[in-house]
Amino acid sequence: MKRRNFVKSVAATGTGLIILPGSILSGRSPSDKLNIALIGAHGRGSQHYGALETENVVAICDVHAGNMALAAKQYPNAKQYTDWRKCLDQKDIDAVLICAPDHHHAFISIWAMNRGKHVYCEKPVGECVTEAREVRKVYLANKNKLATQHGTQRHANENFDRVAELVRGGAIGDLKEAITWGNRTHDKTGYLPAAGPAPKEIDWEQWIGPVQMHPFNPGYFGARPGAGCLLWNMYHDFGSWQIGDMGSHTMDLAWNAIDAGQPTSAWAEGDPFSPEVVASNMHTKFNFPANSWRGPITVEWYQGTLKPASPNPAIDISKIGHGAMFKGTKGTLIADFTTRILIPDRSGADMTYYKPPTPDKVAPPLGGFQQQWFNACKGDLKTDCDFDYAGRMIETLMLGLAAHQAGKELQYDPGKGVVTNDPAANAFLTKEYRKGWVLNG
Ligand SMILES: NC(=O)c1ccc[n+]([C@@H]2O[C@H](COP(=O)([O-])OP(=O)(O)OC[C@H]3O[C@@H](n4cnc5c(N)ncnc54)[C@H](O)[C@@H]3O)[C@@H](O)[C@H]2O)c1
Repeated sequence: MKRRNFVKSVAATGTGLIILPGSILSGRSPSDKLNIALIGAHGRGSQHYGALETENVVAICDVHAGNMALAAKQYPNAKQYTDWRKCLDQKDIDAVLICAPDHHHAFISIWAMNRGKHVYCEKPVGECVTEAREVRKVYLANKNKLATQHGTQRHANENFDRVAELVRGGAIGDLKEAITWGNRTHDKTGYLPAAGPAPKEIDWEQWIGPVQMHPFNPGYFGARPGAGCLLWNMYHDFGSWQIGDMGSHTMDLAWNAIDAGQPTSAWAEGDPFSPEVVASNMHTKFNFPANSWRGPITVEWYQGTLKPASPNPAIDISKIGHGAMFKGTKGTLIADFTTRILIPDRSGADMTYYKPPTPDKVAPPLGGFQQQWFNACKGDLKTDCDFDYAGRMIETLMLGLAAHQAGKELQYDPGKGVVTNDPAANAFLTKEYRKGWVLNG
């Protein structure tokens, strides 16, 4: 049960039960400020400055001197680092907010948790099945003392809970399929050529970090401030393109409703596999076993120009840039991040089978997404998008990339994290890192 529902249901009993205050679990008062390290201090990081006003930013880490200078204006008293490994050794840090590029996410998250620090990590929290599983494993080993949050902040939109209530409440009958999509495309065909040494304000060695070395090119990073992740996240070594980028947000809209667990198979189609760039157009489909409230389901992700078929001629799916569709035995629900459309099938159109939740069963608003994590760090450690929830979601999406690389359906043992019908495909679940870089360090 989500913490928010728990709070609501306890409140509804009217018994005056006291929920354990944070200070009992964490030894701090809710009014204490957290000491936070911001890693990836500008770009997306700057969009957290507002939320961070209630806390102390005691360390900033960035590989670009110009971005560091901008962050230092905001946090003049914070210690400055270019190497996140050194930053994490600063003793007074309670919590780490990670906004560095994707190929650092699992590393920084795991290293931070291993050093007893709470973690908020921008999406996606891993770049392959192994990274996502390792993040989840380390979190589960520490969940009685650390709070984590995956940076899918759209989760705070009330529509996420309304969608979940409709799906779980039976508004479309028995759930059979969840389908998600996103429409961004790219035109890159391979890594960029060497373009001379990196300018002196960029620590390129540290930007590359754990992955294989590629020569500097301003087309990846540093040509202009704020160019951001869409310059580098289509290259396999640096990102996972849309399945990890907007796919994290859009699959979260479904994940919140379907109680997915872990997949038992993955299949994919789309542009031919390239060892250098992630396919711009791709469609992947997963099987999930039954759970306590529903039978087995399939889950899908479409990216680029590929889209699911519309369930009704009145709905033009191509007008919904990022969306989710839930198909059940009695109807279909289509949603984007803020709105939803329910389409009952003709046979069930009277909707008498559906009982909407009573007001006391409606999840209260989540409030600020970062604030939920701050409160969890100081309190009961509970967040909506912790690394158990998000780790399973990213493990699934990255398994889809592995199926695309394998060019066949992969049968998957989620307990062991191995492909069972093609031993060679297990190589696609992991990445090779540069000498000296250890994922779980
Ligand atoms: N949740 C969202 O809605 C959302 C939106 C945009 C980006 N993001 C995520 O935020 C992250 C950053 O994206 P961006 O567009 O800001 O990218 P970016 O390339 O602009 O880099 C962000 C910052 O990280 C710094 N940086 C780069 N390598 C670093 C390293 N090794 N150590 C420390 N700092 C480093 C850069 O100098 C920059 O200040 C990505 O993971 C992206 O997926 C999330």
